[in-house]
Amino acid sequence: MTEPDTVALYVHWPYCARICPYCDFNVVRDRGRTGEQAALADAIVTDMEAQAALLGERRLASIFFGGGTPSLMPPDQVARIIQRARALFPGGGEIEITLEANPTDAEAARFAALARAGVNRLSLGVQSLDDEALRFLGRNHSAAEAMRALELARAAFARLSIDLIYARPGQTVAHWTEELNRAVDLGFEHVSPYQLTIEPTTAFGRAFARGLWSRRTRISPPTSMRPPRRCWRRAASTPTRSPTTPGARRRARRTICMCGGVGIMWAWVPAPTAG
Ligand SMILES: C[S@@+](CC[C@H](N)C(=O)[O-])C[C@H]1O[C@@H](n2cnc3c(N)ncnc32)[C@H](O)[C@@H]1O
Ligand code: SF4
Repeated sequence: MTEPDTVALYVHWPYCARICPYCDFNVVRDRGRTGEQAALADAIVTDMEAQAALLGERRLASIFFGGGTPSLMPPDQVARIIQRARALFPGGGEIEITLEANPTDAEAARFAALARAGVNRLSLGVQSLDDEALRFLGRNHSAAEAMRALELARAAFARLSIDLIYARPGQTVAHWTEELNRAVDLGFEHVSPYQLTIEPTTAFGRAFARGLWSRRTRISPPTSMRPPRRCWRRAASTPTRSPTTPGARRRARRTICMCGGVGIMWAWVPAPTAG
């Protein structure tokens, strides 16, 4: 008997407590939208049922709750979507169920409930380990709050990934290297470095269009490649705190290897004032 084809489920939760000035994802403020959120959860379940009818027999391969900020989702809605997905696409067994989270205290307090709902991997938007950078990025949490959230996440989930944003205005390769080293030393399964992109429809994009910023510093590829390679070596040789299986170490090495893709790094700096 042949195995049915697999299906991977992506659930988008567009609500955020605050809209970050760099973000052009499909997002809205969550305030005053409780009824709308309940209706969206119902619509997600209805859509899954319609897709299941169209697709026929499929085995569930993974679920990813992305956003927006799905750590703001009521855990009972997360549980409901996971259970319905498993019922519609049976036979998946132990699958990866990831949820993106922001590291505010309020959201970290829900991690245990989200784990009980069935989430087994958390992707935490730390963005930076530096308070000044977090203020610049318009984040609603401090570096200390992010560290507390990481500890709570470590207690609740076996698998953890963190996002960082690099190539911030005035950030040097040395600073980025130091920050990346600290992130690697935290010992999580995966580090996702995102180069800050200035999107036209965002607050940062509008500031750039008004000439408040200019692209002034270009760091050449050979210079910028060196530090990430050092990070790669450290990651390969440093024992991680969690998890320490060969598979996880392989994934960590592959992840850090991606940092080599830093290549050309643009630093965004305030435009010099006239006069
Ligand atoms: C859509 S967010 C969802 C996660 C969560 N809401 C958060 O902010 O942590 C996924 C990731 O995209 C990255 N991102 C979004 N806009 C970006 C931009 N303009 N430049 C670089 N990274 C960006 C951030 O690192 C963020 O963690
Ligand atoms: S970066 Fe995350 S929290 Fe900020 S607006 Fe985008 S999705 Fe929302």
